[in-house]
Amino acid sequence: MSVAPGSIRDSIINYLAAVDGDATASEITAAVTLQLGGVSPSSVRSYLNLNVPKVFARTGRGKYRLQGVLEEANVHHMNLEPAVRNGKATLFHADCFEWLSAREANSIQAVVTDPPYGIIEYTEKEMAKLRSGKGGVWRVPPSFDGHRRAPLPRFTVLNDAELVQLYAFFRRLGTNLARVVVPGGNVVVASNPLLSHLVASAMEESGLEMRGYLARLTMTMRGGDRPKNAHEEFSGVSVMPRSQWEPWVVLRKPVEGRVQDNLRKWKTGGFRRPSDERPFGDVIRSNPTSKAEKTMAPHPSLKPQDFLRQVVLASLPLGEGVVLDPFAGSGSTLAAANAVGYRSIGVEADPKFVRLADDAIPKLSRLKLDRPTAI
Ligand SMILES: C[S@@+](CC[C@H](N)C(=O)[O-])C[C@H]1O[C@@H](n2cnc3c(N)ncnc32)[C@H](O)[C@@H]1O
Repeated sequence: MSVAPGSIRDSIINYLAAVDGDATASEITAAVTLQLGGVSPSSVRSYLNLNVPKVFARTGRGKYRLQGVLEEANVHHMNLEPAVRNGKATLFHADCFEWLSAREANSIQAVVTDPPYGIIEYTEKEMAKLRSGKGGVWRVPPSFDGHRRAPLPRFTVLNDAELVQLYAFFRRLGTNLARVVVPGGNVVVASNPLLSHLVASAMEESGLEMRGYLARLTMTMRGGDRPKNAHEEFSGVSVMPRSQWEPWVVLRKPVEGRVQDNLRKWKTGGFRRPSDERPFGDVIRSNPTSKAEKTMAPHPSLKPQDFLRQVVLASLPLGEGVVLDPFAGSGSTLAAANAVGYRSIGVEADPKFVRLADDAIPKLSRLKLDRPTAI
């Protein structure tokens, strides 16, 4: 198949702009191929080489970035004053990529976050559709069996170009976090069974190392259904496994030397044990977010305190340092940090959610749970 040279150029530039850093020629070729179909690796490489240094800069070992992109980190319109303070939590109203680029290197000890996934679902346009209850990527499921389900974005509708964007988004996030997190710092990222492999490989590519997954055992709305419009004919079929767990990708910035040296110097390099007898485990039973919490913090992706407090508590092995949530939403991670006595920082781009967090963080922080956090 032949592809217009202009499309190859646009695809490379879009990918590198989304990555906001450098990428290898193979990675760029993979992204372009995914977006445009059959593209020969040699045409991508020759386009890259012919346009160094005008469009691209070679950053060594077959890596390229867009010329000028690193200098463009524009923080001029960013408000660096905290929008909300509560307990030991501070929330900034900002785009987290701008905020991260202005943050000092090696200054965060752990990250626990639940990023946007469709890339588009938290855009102004899609949020307006969700808020008006009309169409868009947010699927508002019908009520049945007496329960009303919360809206969920439809990740299965992502096309190849959007998957490339998604990969680039997590590369960019990983690169930014790898700079601000201290060696040995944990980075724990909420995901879903359809996309966790992309998140893991994009963030590994950014210099973080994969340390496994947490399985949040919870029933979600996804999967299990019979084939659409042929339910009766194929009544014994589920198109996809019914999802009964939520993967959280666990990564860390590589440690300096031995773990014990890293623990002494940076206070990071492991997980805090819930008790002397028990290590921190990777399967965490979790109920869906309770009605009480949803009333306190009506955010479409609210995560439950019960689960978050266990993860946040474990994220700082010595209980020292600060936990960052760059996609803070209602501030549930910050509230969990308050509840376990940790310092935390959040960043949220949507002003409505910042106002929501202002109200919700103190309420969620005080929420009494049926079982104690450190069990
Ligand atoms: C999945 S939600 C997180 C919800 C959160 N876990 C909670 O329990 O409330 C992702 C959040 O990231 C915010 N967001 C999206 N892009 C952002 C960006 N570039 N910088 C900061 N926040 C962003 C969205 O507005 C949304 O509130």
